[in-house]
Amino acid sequence: PIVTDQLCIKGELPPDALPPFQCCPPASASEPINFTFPDPGEPLRTRRPVHVVGDEHMAKYARAVALMKSLPVSDPRSFYQQANVHCAYCTGAHRQAGRPDMGVQIHFSWLFFPFHRAYLYFFERIAAKLLGDPGFALPIWSWDVPEGMGIPEVFADVASPLYDPIREPSHAPPKVADLDFFLQGEKNLTDQEVILHNLRVMYRQMVSGATLPSLFLGQPYRAGDAEMPGPGTVEWAPHNTMHTWTGDSSRPNAENMGVYYSAGRDPLFYPHHGNIDRLWETWRNDIAVGRRRRADFDDPDWLDSSFLLYDEEARLVRITVRDVLDADKLRYTYGDVAVPWLTARP
Ligand code: C2O
Repeated sequence: PIVTDQLCIKGELPPDALPPFQCCPPASASEPINFTFPDPGEPLRTRRPVHVVGDEHMAKYARAVALMKSLPVSDPRSFYQQANVHCAYCTGAHRQAGRPDMGVQIHFSWLFFPFHRAYLYFFERIAAKLLGDPGFALPIWSWDVPEGMGIPEVFADVASPLYDPIREPSHAPPKVADLDFFLQGEKNLTDQEVILHNLRVMYRQMVSGATLPSLFLGQPYRAGDAEMPGPGTVEWAPHNTMHTWTGDSSRPNAENMGVYYSAGRDPLFYPHHGNIDRLWETWRNDIAVGRRRRADFDDPDWLDSSFLLYDEEARLVRITVRDVLDADKLRYTYGDVAVPWLTARP
């Protein structure tokens, strides 16, 4: 398995990166503690789409982001450091335990879904703690249903803590998102055509193209392997494509959302990943193959891989892939999202 070490060095940032140039979170004075499940009596958080939850809930998310932004930058729970945590895991800054010459890369492999689930889990709990609202659930950006296919308005309000000035201006709302967008340019389609196209992309990525764990979750990546062996269908699109579509195409690296190192600096990153995480649940639970549910890997190299993340008490926690496989045990679920693409066979 790939076991993350506490040792973190300056990772590899792209040329012309924006500061900070070093993404390692503050070092922990004590050894990491092992993850333990939340109390089963905790309220179940239900993550719902931005277009469903309403203004009041979005104002809460905005307040959580503002509170995180106002923590001292030395606090690992601050928005600044949370963005850095993602940066560290995608620039090879964290070392692999026992292999100080090798970095941990959580994209383009089977670590993609479990890492981001663990990362969001702690981000959501930090938000809930700062809000003093133990049941707070992260809103999700459900770009796979027509009502969510575009940057939600509230993120485009320049006065909101959810606004990020480093986004593609021509993709501000009400622009309809293109789920298999690449930098090669815009498609010449009407909104209705784009929506239909998007539903077909979803069908391909979730159903017809994702019949095996390796096709959906990504290729195996074990200690000592070359990084980025290959992404799963959804990691490639809409995950990467929506990052690129959101980022500012006039910047050298399509910051903020369009490049790994800076993506976590946009408050839209977290609702984007909420939707990615929801699709993992959907793939496993709702898409029957014959009569069988789809199953994750059962390979110990996957199950025993682990990450180091800070919890809501600012303690460094070691969490394994095995720890994140049951959302119910993590006390959250998804609600109020349809799957209109399930029948959109091209
Ligand atoms: Cu770690 Cu959406 O990227």
